[in-house]
Amino acid sequence: MTPPQSTRIEPVAGMSVRIETTKNRVIEGDNLAVMAALLPTHSGRVKLAYIDPPYNTGNQFTYEDNRGEEWVMMMRPRLEAAHTLLCEGGAIVVHIDEHEVARLTVLLDDIFGRENRLGTIVWDKGNPKGDANSIAVQHESIVAFAKRKSQFHPLEQAKPNVEAMLAKATDLMGTLGKVMLPPDLAKTASRYRLPSVALKPHRRARTLDDINKAFAAWLRDQRAFRPGERAYNRIDSSGRVYQAVSMAWPNKKRAPDHYFVPLIHPETGKPCPVPERGWRNPPRTMTRLLAEGRVVFGADEQTQPRRKYFLHEVQTENVPSIFKDGSSDDRRLAKMGVPFDHPKPLTVAQRIVRWFTHQPGDIVLDFFAGSGTTGHAVLAENRERNAGLQFVLIQRPEPVGERSAGKRAGFDRVIDMTRTRLQRAIAAMDEDALPGPTEDRGFAAERLVP
Ligand SMILES: C[S@@+](CC[C@H](N)C(=O)[O-])C[C@H]1O[C@@H](n2cnc3c(N)ncnc32)[C@H](O)[C@@H]1O
Repeated sequence: MTPPQSTRIEPVAGMSVRIETTKNRVIEGDNLAVMAALLPTHSGRVKLAYIDPPYNTGNQFTYEDNRGEEWVMMMRPRLEAAHTLLCEGGAIVVHIDEHEVARLTVLLDDIFGRENRLGTIVWDKGNPKGDANSIAVQHESIVAFAKRKSQFHPLEQAKPNVEAMLAKATDLMGTLGKVMLPPDLAKTASRYRLPSVALKPHRRARTLDDINKAFAAWLRDQRAFRPGERAYNRIDSSGRVYQAVSMAWPNKKRAPDHYFVPLIHPETGKPCPVPERGWRNPPRTMTRLLAEGRVVFGADEQTQPRRKYFLHEVQTENVPSIFKDGSSDDRRLAKMGVPFDHPKPLTVAQRIVRWFTHQPGDIVLDFFAGSGTTGHAVLAENRERNAGLQFVLIQRPEPVGERSAGKRAGFDRVIDMTRTRLQRAIAAMDEDALPGPTEDRGFAAERLVP
């Protein structure tokens, strides 16, 4: 794709926010022409192309969603342009529903290469379509391809409850040695409101064992935690949360002969039981685990030692292929005075932006901007996590549907809704901003001109 000689991008007067300092851009124009104009400056620089193109449903929303068989012909050159704009470690993420998911995947296979597939996330919206006479669809797909998979950083997300567990453990460790009631008695005392005079003789200095009991009881009450998280139910003397896992040889056959060296109990000095089929690791690894304090012994040599897996070392997990989010942002946008049909929920967009960006300065491009959800998500990520991301949004000056809520709210063109939403999102963030240096809460409003 060669950049056209005859177009340029120029500012739109009076629409930008903090134009002098911002690196974010909202560009009015057909996305193919705008991407062509961006080639000289942006080729190989975009980290994430995150788009939500028309789904080819044949409906008239705020924007037109009916392109018939032309859909593939419309998408191909735009996806090719996105491929050129992406950096080597970048990725494209596309929202799509059942109408075009198959053709979209084939198209991306063709342009990005099958070997660069990152996978398809099923977004469960929890609400089956009621008018279906076939399978009632309650999900959309989010198809992801890397520009070059070998250079793409692993897709990970924070485990949801790890932070709360670590915080609870720190809190409890703060009570070590303090004169208190033992945890089980404290619970009974508060349930039956027992008088403190009667309890006084039972107060004693809190031990690590007490802390472990209190932690296990707290975990039992956290119904929303997953079993894998609840398994981390112990705290060691350094305050680290861990689970104790068997170190037995996992296969049916016996381990090699030198995998049977017994471990010596640190207090009794006597050998502990060795698993029937031997240890899982060779003696060299067992020595290292011992030296690193990763082996947990029983009260004496009668208990088989187990391995400690620390919670703080597994704070992330791979991004799963399904996520549930039944939220809708119709109300949010109506409240902002920008009633755009079917905006993507901010929570979903933020999740995608978080997963697929990596470091400050990463550029997020959305060339089917609509109401500007992607821009809003970048602003929110920068605000909440100091992520330092930038966005480039492209939206053509398409007229809003004659019978849409957007028209009734006084908007003539979709791009006006994009800019207004971002202006209002920034104004709301400005209102509760802390004084001092801030993240980039601005955007340059621009347009492509012949
Ligand atoms: C499904 S909507 C995107 C909605 C958006 N994700 C949101 O949350 O508001 C698709 C948008 O792409 C725009 N669009 C379609 N074709 C385009 C083109 N060739 N160039 C630029 N924008 C285009 C439409 O006007 C519409 O606003």
